[in-house]
Amino acid sequence: MHPITVREMKFAVPSADEFHPLCVAGSSVLSYTLLATGLYVAYLEPFFVKSLRRVMDQIRDEALREDADRFSRQEAQHYRRHMDFNKAVFRHGYPGLEQRVEMLRRDFEGFLGNRSDRFRIGYIEGFESFTTQFALRTLASGLYDHRHTVRAVGDLFKWHMLEEVEHRNVAFDVYEHLYGDYLYRARMCWVSQHHMFRFIADCAGLMSSADVARHGVRCRITVRQRALIATSRLGMRARTMLPGYTPHKHAIPSNIAELSAHFTQLAQRIH
Ligand SMILES: [Fe+2]
Ligand SMILES: [Fe+2]
Repeated sequence: MHPITVREMKFAVPSADEFHPLCVAGSSVLSYTLLATGLYVAYLEPFFVKSLRRVMDQIRDEALREDADRFSRQEAQHYRRHMDFNKAVFRHGYPGLEQRVEMLRRDFEGFLGNRSDRFRIGYIEGFESFTTQFALRTLASGLYDHRHTVRAVGDLFKWHMLEEVEHRNVAFDVYEHLYGDYLYRARMCWVSQHHMFRFIADCAGLMSSADVARHGVRCRITVRQRALIATSRLGMRARTMLPGYTPHKHAIPSNIAELSAHFTQLAQRIH
């Protein structure tokens, strides 16, 4: 089995009646942040696949080319499963949400049309270097198995984050292979992470305000919660921009291999 296993998964998607926004540990800030992340990756990951396809012929190392191909195929599965789930989010009806998502779609369209390969691969690496740390942290926290996390949401994110750990080295290795320019990489970490967190904050705010009116004050994201979540990211964000950063140095807990086997067994098909 290749360590970057492409799994075709099937997850339950909540119906309109079943969907409740506070689906992650019953927490407003965690739920809206992950719901917004799901909206973001549905446009980000197709951008990854298209961007990598354009540089595939420039990758002269055969093993790295296969890793890049598997990376793209894992990401292609991620965005499809998130799109299934996002339908439930849109059906819940959030004024302004579709317009904000449309702005994001146009951003990525612009990146594909007007920016260089180096910008796009740097963008991918800037995202991945944060996400690997986020994935390791949240998988270790038990958040996805929390008793107030809705099973369908917990499983979707657990599978996605596991595969982010599996392919953690690929974007970095492709960037180093093709460009290897540290300062530009650090700049792109800032650019991509800023782009993502601005979108997530906008969507989380939109969803939370609409839900306070219909589901009550527990849907409110307080200023303190917003500050806490931003602060909790600072160390991970800074680490991605350090000169010695490499995903190859991450300590991978032993239960990650068990999780990989677990999702391989649950998969409809594997490649
Ligand atoms: Fe992904
Ligand atoms: Fe990824």
